[in-house]
Amino acid sequence: MQSLDILNAGRIIPVMVVEEAQNAVPLARALVQGGIKVLEITLRTKEALEAIKQISQEVPEAIVGAGTVLNAIDFKKAQVAGAKFAISPGLIPALAQMSKDSPIPLIPGVASASEVMLALEFGLKSLKFFPAQAAGGVATLKSFAGPFKEVFFCPTGGISLENMGAYLKLDNVLCVGGSWLAPKELVQAKEWPKITAIAQRSVAVAQDI
Ligand code: 3PG
Repeated sequence: MQSLDILNAGRIIPVMVVEEAQNAVPLARALVQGGIKVLEITLRTKEALEAIKQISQEVPEAIVGAGTVLNAIDFKKAQVAGAKFAISPGLIPALAQMSKDSPIPLIPGVASASEVMLALEFGLKSLKFFPAQAAGGVATLKSFAGPFKEVFFCPTGGISLENMGAYLKLDNVLCVGGSWLAPKELVQAKEWPKITAIAQRSVAVAQDI
């Protein structure tokens, strides 16, 4: 899949922190049951790669990718684990360069016009806008629409059920990302039906926009 296909595959991408690999598949299934398709597993825990591997093998309805990809080594490990895409919080040339020859796409994070220009230099046009709320939110994305007509964003960072509508209304926003769909305490307690309910409610809000 290309990066644009990933951003177009669903309106909401959960940003997931999986501490225990045994929770990965039930969590992924709970989200898929709630109408979510694209899943981002952040490489912030030692079991994250195992979580990606298990979801990619056991939950074929999901499109699972790696988040918090900080360098070329992370990128390669994510790919080997079965990730269908890689998301980074920022953009460095080494990562962008590597993505050119990679079978999976990179969706790099940007927060400024110069960073969007760096992404374009490498042919990357489907970007994460991070940290969305802290970097000026909807107003910044509206400003990007003028000079960067072919660029699409997935704002992430500070997105909630309350503010996601304002982002999803923008023509240059295809989806939003956030951690609210997989709250740590619900994952730890294995409250899968509650997570499905959050996903359903979120998808319903996104559909009304
Ligand atoms: C992240 O990478 O941590 C995401 O941006 C999630 O941000 P959030 O917790 O504000 O949704």
